[in-house]
Amino acid sequence: MKQVNLGVIGLGYQGKIHLQNALYLKETKVLGAADVSEKALTYAKNLGVKNVYKDYESLLKNPQLDAVIISLPNFLHLEGAVKAAEAGKHIFIEKPLARNVVEGEKILSSVKENGVSLMVGYDLRFNPDLKSVRERISDGFFGEVQIVEATNVSGGPFASRNDRVGPIPVPSWWFDKELAGGGALLDLGSHMIDLLSWYFGETEVIESYLGYTLNMKLEDVATCMLKFKNGPIATVKVGWFSKNHTQSIQICGTAQNLWMRISPQSSLGIIWNDVKRKFGLQNSSPYYLELEHFVSSLQKDKQPRPSGDDGLRCLRVISRAYEKTCKNLEKGVGAS
Ligand SMILES: NC(=O)c1ccc[n+]([C@@H]2O[C@H](COP(=O)([O-])OP(=O)(O)OC[C@H]3O[C@@H](n4cnc5c(N)ncnc54)[C@H](O)[C@@H]3O)[C@@H](O)[C@H]2O)c1
Repeated sequence: MKQVNLGVIGLGYQGKIHLQNALYLKETKVLGAADVSEKALTYAKNLGVKNVYKDYESLLKNPQLDAVIISLPNFLHLEGAVKAAEAGKHIFIEKPLARNVVEGEKILSSVKENGVSLMVGYDLRFNPDLKSVRERISDGFFGEVQIVEATNVSGGPFASRNDRVGPIPVPSWWFDKELAGGGALLDLGSHMIDLLSWYFGETEVIESYLGYTLNMKLEDVATCMLKFKNGPIATVKVGWFSKNHTQSIQICGTAQNLWMRISPQSSLGIIWNDVKRKFGLQNSSPYYLELEHFVSSLQKDKQPRPSGDDGLRCLRVISRAYEKTCKNLEKGVGAS
């Protein structure tokens, strides 16, 4: 496959970012986009996308389409991914793979049955600094890593609406436990758990605590302790309660220690990326790089990573963390 023909399904907060990036990918053409919202379709048309659809199944009917980028709300990941797989389209799907393990397994079966590729959008793997950390872990720079801490605290879905695409209301599905599948742990925690699993491999959940400071049915605070089979003990701390975005990682080994801020990105970095994008130069944002990896993997007939299996593994860890919290609640500890 030389040129990859893409379709974009779901043009909300994250889908818009993917559409913008997809339009700059080399050897790639965006053949169409789909969203139930007329406003979102107008946005796509204004960016030059000729074929837009309210019903994504119409987009999937295009025989020239090779792959789709799915940024639908979590409760539609299963349906969207299965329909795309049945239509024979390769899939880039936003994280989390699905709302829970059962749905994730159904997506993977359909992908396997239909012989298409699946990549899950854990973009931290495409942050160049975090990639270097992984190399330093493997080459023994830290010695034996003993303790790891990963923090991801922000306003979650509240904050992101104001950051990049202007003040738009937060879609209600984000705060419905049934539709979202989980709160801060599934949303922000899954990023950190995927990153640490990429660094250290298989893990088990030792303890997990959830907090409900905003009085929603979904957790807006979570702390989990993980033990990696061949590595360290890690604490993952996430929250949706803060106006300040703090995303960081700490690694303590027998030879070296590191504390690294992942976000907020410096304002200069954000401006520089925008300037580069305007001039059609390669964007170095992880969101751009992950799509570039997806497309080049399809061209080389290779499995893109994070794969569906990676996405499912992450859901399994999260599911165990939710179970642990329930046990802690039965014992009278855990939730605030
Ligand atoms: N990787 C990241 O950093 C990151 C950041 C934000 C969101 N996400 C993920 O992206 C996904 C979407 O999140 P969001 O915040 O963009 O949500 P959103 O609600 O802003 O966007 C979803 C879009 O899907 C559209 N939609 C709903 N039903 C549809 C249907 N049946 N057919 C076609 N379009 C439909 C909506 O109109 C909306 O435009 C979630 O899974 C979320 O976890 C990832």
